[in-house]
Amino acid sequence: MDKLIIKGNGPLQGLVRISGAKNAALPCLTATILTADDVHLTNLPPVKDIQTMGSLLTDLGMKVCMDGEEAKINGSQLSNHVATYDLVKTMRASILVLGPLLARAGHARVSLPGGCAIGARPVDLHIKALEQMGAEIVIEHGFVEARASRLKGAEIFFETVTVTGTENILMAATLAEGITVLNNAAKEPEVKDLADMLIKMGARIEGAGTATITIHGVEALHGASHAIIPDRIEAGTYVCAAAITRGHVRIEQVTPRHLRRFLDVLILCGLKMSVGENSIEVFPHEGLVARDIQTQPHPGYPTDMQAQFMTLMTQAEGRSLITENIFENRFMHVSELVRMGADIKVTDRTAAVKGPMPLSGAQVMATDLRASASLVLAGLIADGETHVNRIYHLDRGYTHLEQKLSAIGAQVQRVSEGTSHLE
Ligand code: EPZ
Repeated sequence: MDKLIIKGNGPLQGLVRISGAKNAALPCLTATILTADDVHLTNLPPVKDIQTMGSLLTDLGMKVCMDGEEAKINGSQLSNHVATYDLVKTMRASILVLGPLLARAGHARVSLPGGCAIGARPVDLHIKALEQMGAEIVIEHGFVEARASRLKGAEIFFETVTVTGTENILMAATLAEGITVLNNAAKEPEVKDLADMLIKMGARIEGAGTATITIHGVEALHGASHAIIPDRIEAGTYVCAAAITRGHVRIEQVTPRHLRRFLDVLILCGLKMSVGENSIEVFPHEGLVARDIQTQPHPGYPTDMQAQFMTLMTQAEGRSLITENIFENRFMHVSELVRMGADIKVTDRTAAVKGPMPLSGAQVMATDLRASASLVLAGLIADGETHVNRIYHLDRGYTHLEQKLSAIGAQVQRVSEGTSHLE
C-alpha cells in the first residue's frame, strides 16, 4: 500500500483546476441504467470510485467505455440485476443501482452496503420509499431483493434528509406510473445535477434542488450527453490548503455558489478571498479567528468539509466548537490531529478546538476520505515530515491530489508504505 510523505514547505502559491464531482458522477453513472440508448458523460473525475462504478455497470451487462474524464455507456444489453457483496463492500454508493434497476428491469438484488468508519450508514429510507411505490422487498443473507412489475408514483416523506436516498427514488420515479412527490428531499447540488441529466434524458422533474421534488413518470428515457458539475468538496479542500499555509492560490473550474455557507464561515474567520462566477482566489492573511460550525444538510455547512475545517481551526486564534450533526462517528481524524499536537476535546457530537497550536509531523492513519484530507492539510504546516498511511481512501475521491498540491508548492510525495523519509 502507498502512503504520502508531506513536509511543511511554506505558503502555497499558484493555480488549481477543480475536477468533476464524485458525488454527482456516481448517481449520473447509475442513471444510464434507465435507458437503452447511448449516454455520454464528460468531466468525470478519474478516481477509484468512478472506476468501481464502471465495473459494476459492466457486470450488469451495460456497454461501458471509459476514457479519462469521459464515459460512453449503452444500456441496451442490460442483462444482470445483481450488485455483488464484493463490489458493494468497496463502495457504498453501489446502492444507487437499486432504484434504476427496479425501474428499468423490475428486479434488483443489491448487497446491503455495510457501515463504514463514519457511521452505520443505513438504507432503510431508500427501501421504505420503494415499498411505498409498490416494490416487494425482502432483505435476506445481506442482500436487498426487490421486485416490481412497474413502480407506482407515491407521496414520499423522508424522515431524515438523505442524499443518495433522494437520488435513488428520483431515478426510480422517472419511469414509474403516475406522479411521485419527494418531501424533505436533499437539496445538494449533486441531486440537482442528477435531475438536470435525467431531464435531458426525457424525464419530467420539477423542484430539484428544493425540499420538494415532483416527478411525472414516463414510459421510457432516451440517451443524452451531460457534463458533471465541479467538485465543491475538492474545491473547499484547496481553499483550506491555501488558508492554512497563508498562501495565495487561485482555484478555477469551481461553482462558488455550491459552497456558499463554507465560504461565508471562512470570511467570518477573516480569510480574504475574491469570488468569481467560476473561480475562488484566496489571498495571504496574517492570522484567522476561530469560528463555530454545525454540519447540516445543504445549504447548511457541509459535513464533507468538517474535518478539513477542524485542521484549519487548529491554527486559528481562539476556540472553535465543531458539531457534527449528520454522521455519528465522523471525528476519527481527531485522535490523529491530537497526535500531531492539536488541542481538541470531543464531547458527544461536538469537538472543541483550541488554537493556534503548532503541529509536528507524525505517522498518521487515514480512516475515511475527508479525514485523510484533513491529515494532508495538517502535514502542509507541521514541523517535519508527516506520513499519511492508507491513502487508498484519498484515491477514492481526490483527483491527482499530490500532483495538484505539488504544482502549487507543496512538498508531497507518494511512496510505498515502507519508505522512511523523503529523498
Ligand atoms: C452522501 O452520502 C455522500 N455520498 C456523502 O459523501 C455525504 O457525506 C453525505 O451524502 C451527506 O452529505 C455520496 O453522495 C456518494 P445520507 P449518503 O443518506 O447519501 C441517515 C464523501 O465523503 N440515513 O445523506 O450515504 C444517515 O445515517 C461521502 O464523499 C438513514 O438513517 O448520506 C446519515 O446520518 C461521505 N437512513 C444521514 O441520514 C437512510 O436510509 C445522512 O445520510 C439513509 C440515510
